[in-house]
Amino acid sequence: MTDFDGVDYFTDSSLIPDPHPYYDHVRSKDPVCCPISNGVLAVTGWQAANTVYKDSEHYSSCVAVMGPFTPLPFTPEGDDICAEIEQHRTEIPLFEHMVTMDPPQHTDARSILSRLLTPKRLKENEDFMWRLADRHIDEFIADGKCEFLAAYAKPFSLLVVADLLGVPEEDHEDFREAFGAERPGSNIGGLDHEVIASNPLEWADEKFTRYIEERRENPRDDVLTSIATAKYPDGSTPEVVDVVRTATFLFAAGQETTAKLLGAAMRILSDRPDIQQQLRDDRSLIPVFIEECLRMESPVKSVFRMARKSTTLGDTPVPAGSTVMVSPGAANRDPERFDNPHEFSLQRKNVREHLAFSRGIHSCPGAPLARVEGRVSVERLLDRLADITVAEDKHGPADDRRYVYEPTFILRGLTEINIEFTAVD
Ligand code: HEM
Repeated sequence: MTDFDGVDYFTDSSLIPDPHPYYDHVRSKDPVCCPISNGVLAVTGWQAANTVYKDSEHYSSCVAVMGPFTPLPFTPEGDDICAEIEQHRTEIPLFEHMVTMDPPQHTDARSILSRLLTPKRLKENEDFMWRLADRHIDEFIADGKCEFLAAYAKPFSLLVVADLLGVPEEDHEDFREAFGAERPGSNIGGLDHEVIASNPLEWADEKFTRYIEERRENPRDDVLTSIATAKYPDGSTPEVVDVVRTATFLFAAGQETTAKLLGAAMRILSDRPDIQQQLRDDRSLIPVFIEECLRMESPVKSVFRMARKSTTLGDTPVPAGSTVMVSPGAANRDPERFDNPHEFSLQRKNVREHLAFSRGIHSCPGAPLARVEGRVSVERLLDRLADITVAEDKHGPADDRRYVYEPTFILRGLTEINIEFTAVD
C-alpha cells in the first residue's frame, strides 16, 4: 500500500493514471481542509468544496489556475491582503483572463459573455453541432477505427467554440490548423508543439482583434458585431483588448475540457458494452450518462483560491495568503454525498449535484454548451457506429487495459482513446 503522506501531489507521476486512492486518503484525514504538499490546503469533501466555491469574499481567484505555482509579486502579511492583490494584480500571471479576476472586474468580463450565451445563440450553436458531428464522423467512418480524440473530440470542441463566437465558417479550417486540433497529444496546456505562431491563443488574439476592430468600424448583422458592440453594465465601452481576451479565453476554457469529457465518455462507452447497450435501448438516458461521466471523470482536477482575508475551514485556521485547492474530482466521489461513489451508475438520482463545473460567481458559463456537446455527440456516434469497442492492439485486453492520462495536476484526460466499430449503413 502506498504511503500517500510522503507523496507530492503536484509532481508524483504515479498519481496520474488514477488519483482517486490518493483523494480518498486525503479525504479520510480531513475532507474539509487537509494540508498537502507545497503548503496547499486541500478540500476534498463535497460540502466544503461547495462552501469555498461560493465564498468569494474570503477567497480570491488570482491563483485559480496554477495555485502554488503562481509567482506572487509580494509576500502576504496580515489578516487582509485584498489591497496588496489589487495593487499587484497585473503582475500576477494570467491576470488578463476572467477566471483569475475578482469582482468588480470579473463582473464586467462576465457581462460580455452574456451576449453570447443567450437561448437563441445556444439553439443556433446546437444546430451547428448536429451538422458538425456528422461532418467529423464522415471523415473517419470508412476506416472502421480511429483515435477518437484527434479524429473527433478535439476538432469538434474547438469548432463549437468558434461557431459560438460567430467565426465565419470559411475561417474554421484556419482555426483547426492553428490549434493543431487533430494532432494526438496536442493540448492548450502544453504549447510546445509547432502551430501557427507557436501559441494558438496569441494567434486567436490577433485574429479576433481584426474581427472586433472591423465590426466596430462596419457593424454587420452577426454575432461578432454583437460582441464587438457589447457594453459594460455601467454603460461604458470595453477596450478592444478586453473584448478579445474574453472571446479567446473561451478556446482555452472550453476546448480541452470538453474534449476530455468526450474522451472519457467514449472510453466508458467502448469499455462497457452493457452501458453502451442501455444507451442504445433508451436514448433518454444520454443526459444522465454525460452527468455521470462528469462526476466520475471530472475534466478539471484542481481549482485554486487564495485566502484574501484570514478565515477558517471547519476547525482549521486559514490565514490570509494561504492557497486552497478544491478538487472537483475528489468532491464528486465523496461518499457523504454520493452512494457507492466509485461506481458508474445511470440510476444515480443526485448526479447533477456534481461540482465538475464549479459553483459561485466563477461557475462555468460554458456548462450548458458542454452538456449539449456531449449529448449531440453520443447521439450521433450511437446512430452511426455500431459495436464500438476499445482497440485492444493499442490499449490491451479487457482484463488488462492500458490507458495513458495527461501528466498534469490541472486537468484529467486521456492522451488517446483508440476505438473500433462497424459503420451503420
Ligand atoms: C466539460 C467541459 C467543461 C468543464 C468540466 C469546465 C469546467 C470549468 C470549471 C471547473 C470552471 C471554474 C473555475 C473556477 O471556479 O475557478 C470553469 C470556468 C469557465 N469555463 Fe468551463 N468547463 C467546461 C467547458 C466550457 C466551455 C465549453 C466553455 C465555453 C465555451 C467554458 C468556459 C468557461 C469560462 C469562460 C470560465 C471562467 C468563468 C469565470 O471565471 O467566471 N467552459 N469551467
